Amino acid sequence: MMNRLPMSVTASTPSFADDTPGRAPGLVLGIESSCDETGVALVHASGQGVPRLEAHALHSQIEMHQAYGGVVPELASRDHIRRVLPLATQVLAAAGRSLAEVDVVAYTRGPGLAGALLVGSGVACALGAALGRPVLGVHHLEGHLLSPFLSADPPEFPFVALLVSGGHTQLMRVDAVGEYQILGETIDDAAGEAFDKSAKLMGLGYPGGPALSRLAETGDPAAFKLPRPLLHSGDLDFSFAGLKTAVLTQARKLGDALESRKPDLAASTQAAIVEVLLKKSMAALRQTGLRRLVVAGGVGANRELRQRLNAACLVARVRVHYPELHLCTDNGAMIAMAAAMRLQSGRAQAGRDYSFDVRPRWPLDAIDT
Ligand SMILES: Nc1ncnc2c1ncn2[C@@H]1O[C@H](COP(=O)(O)OP(=O)(O)OP(=O)(O)O)[C@@H](O)[C@H]1O
Ligand SMILES: [Mg+2]
Repeated sequence: MMNRLPMSVTASTPSFADDTPGRAPGLVLGIESSCDETGVALVHASGQGVPRLEAHALHSQIEMHQAYGGVVPELASRDHIRRVLPLATQVLAAAGRSLAEVDVVAYTRGPGLAGALLVGSGVACALGAALGRPVLGVHHLEGHLLSPFLSADPPEFPFVALLVSGGHTQLMRVDAVGEYQILGETIDDAAGEAFDKSAKLMGLGYPGGPALSRLAETGDPAAFKLPRPLLHSGDLDFSFAGLKTAVLTQARKLGDALESRKPDLAASTQAAIVEVLLKKSMAALRQTGLRRLVVAGGVGANRELRQRLNAACLVARVRVHYPELHLCTDNGAMIAMAAAMRLQSGRAQAGRDYSFDVRPRWPLDAIDT
């Protein structure tokens, strides 16, 4: 049966003292299971330099949920159960490592779907207990936020972060690992949700963000006048709920002509979302006086957003960093990385109390609670 790890419980002595805050954690196994992707990764941190990704593996459940037009939580949990151990075996083999070499087991503690989070947390704590290794629960958004450190050109602190995922849209001032000040956020839908809901109205399936942006490449972004909510609000908050209503109204108005005008409607929708994200990010940079921008989360894969941000940052002499394209959406690498960086910085300690809870709702500014 595949669901069995090659386990050697007579594990070697850990290569680090986990009760020394700020010590390099060694080899960190990270498990992500907060929503519809199961991710497992190994990150190694031997000194104070940026931890190094050794291997990662991912299973996306998108195909399974597509038939329902969105994520079905119970199906998601069941699939995580099926996938997590085979993925761990795959990652260990790819890195040429044995389970006995793992120094810390990290997992996503929240936010996310409760049942899905329980799978990763349960497996991580069971592994930690069996190996006699400490475990650490990680905040999923901190994983996204620190994911650009997995790229070949990692950022340096401090920076402004634009976190644009399926469930969150936030601008943050980031001074160090764990020091996150929210400058502005969405008051309703997230940017990813705006992409997905507009795509659904156009019959582009789920999740529609990537499909909508592909279609937009052949459309005219000025074809339809769509709202740019809160663009001139004077603060750094966002609102995207009105946009999908405007897209729906436009789609109804087009009627039978919608089919042939879909690329134009997609391009106009994308232009509205991107313009708001761009203007608010540049305002956050001006407001903080910082000259570095980090973009994270699934919408960070959007090509138009990257092009517009790159052009504006060039003019403003701001360095801009993105996660690698395949690490923009959920993955285990960002969870292992966030754990390694938290341990390295002394912001967190991995523990040997293998009881666990999950935090389905967990604001990033309450990360230490
Ligand atoms: N190229 C793209 N253009 C626009 N949107 C995209 C693109 N690629 C992915 N997305 C969007 O990114 C979102 C998924 O990103 P991610 O996995 O970071 O979010 P999530 O994990 O579901 O949400 P959260 O992390 O807030 O819980 C979806 O809304 C998807 O449509
Ligand atoms: Mg996510």
